[in-house]
Amino acid sequence: MKQELEKIESAALGETASCDSIKALDELRVKYLGKKGELTAILKQMGKLSAEERPVIGQLANKIRQDIENAVSKKMADLKAKEQELRIASESIDITLPGKPQSFGKLHPLTIVANEIKEIFMGMGFSIADGPEVEYDYYNFEALNLPPDHPARDTQDTFYITDNILLRTQTSSVQVHVMENQKPPIRIISPGRVYRSDAVDATHSPLFHQIEGLVVDKGITMADLKGVLETLMKKLYGNDCKIRLRPHHFPFTEPSAEVDVMCFNCHGEGCRICKGEGYIELLGAGMVHPKVLEGCGIDSSVYSGFAFGMGLERIVMRRYNISDMRLLYENDLRFLEQF
Ligand code: DAH
Repeated sequence: MKQELEKIESAALGETASCDSIKALDELRVKYLGKKGELTAILKQMGKLSAEERPVIGQLANKIRQDIENAVSKKMADLKAKEQELRIASESIDITLPGKPQSFGKLHPLTIVANEIKEIFMGMGFSIADGPEVEYDYYNFEALNLPPDHPARDTQDTFYITDNILLRTQTSSVQVHVMENQKPPIRIISPGRVYRSDAVDATHSPLFHQIEGLVVDKGITMADLKGVLETLMKKLYGNDCKIRLRPHHFPFTEPSAEVDVMCFNCHGEGCRICKGEGYIELLGAGMVHPKVLEGCGIDSSVYSGFAFGMGLERIVMRRYNISDMRLLYENDLRFLEQF
């Protein structure tokens, strides 16, 4: 039995030494040391030995088991180290390769033009006012001289949260907030989102943007309104740009006007873009209605003011010659990357 054990030992140690894969080494371990392994098979026959032989053979068998185990685990460590070395060598990175380019974001055309308009107004001493998009009926309609049954409400249908709370249809609501909280002189613009229950098409979107303007002080006249708007349009469209005021009606201004801007394409001659008019309608404006001033606690016998409201999309589309408003909301990079 001693000889058999020694034979197993030398075979196991030899095979271990020449083994060159982790998988094969595992198989070796099972073959010699496993429950059904060769060494175990021998030890099972220990019962046949005499009482004197048993401890001697037992000791030898344990020593051999220990030796094989040591050899196998040492070899296992070697093989694993070698495998790691190989992996590191094959994974090495070439730091001279060019990196992946980082793509930078850009400002959206609506943001670019809104920023430009803000700059122009700040240059004229205006500050920027903000108001809620979820608004009370009072600020969006009633305080602007549009009582509950006013027919002009029909032109601005919106999304109602409750009977009394809605998504604002116009930034004109900010006029009321500002006049409630600030004494004249007032000189603000208020850019922001507005909502209307309109179907989407090339010139309509249920969400769009307006820029409101409000000036209230002693002795403000229509001439101030015209001067401010003309300055804006010259800065936006060039020094030869002219504007034209046409009588109109808004409940919250009296008198009211629609403001047309000389066509940037034909400079007033008439072309396809302005449909032969030479001018393009761009915004609404007027002198703040005394009822609106009084409703906000401003004495209309002392103060007067003008207001205007323009659609930002329309200005952006005109500016960049964009024919379909949907392009501004679709987030198609091929479009957006052009600005
Ligand atoms: N709020 C109006 C609209 O959405 C635009 C407007 C017209 C605003 C006249 C004004 C104004 O401040 O004076 O159609």
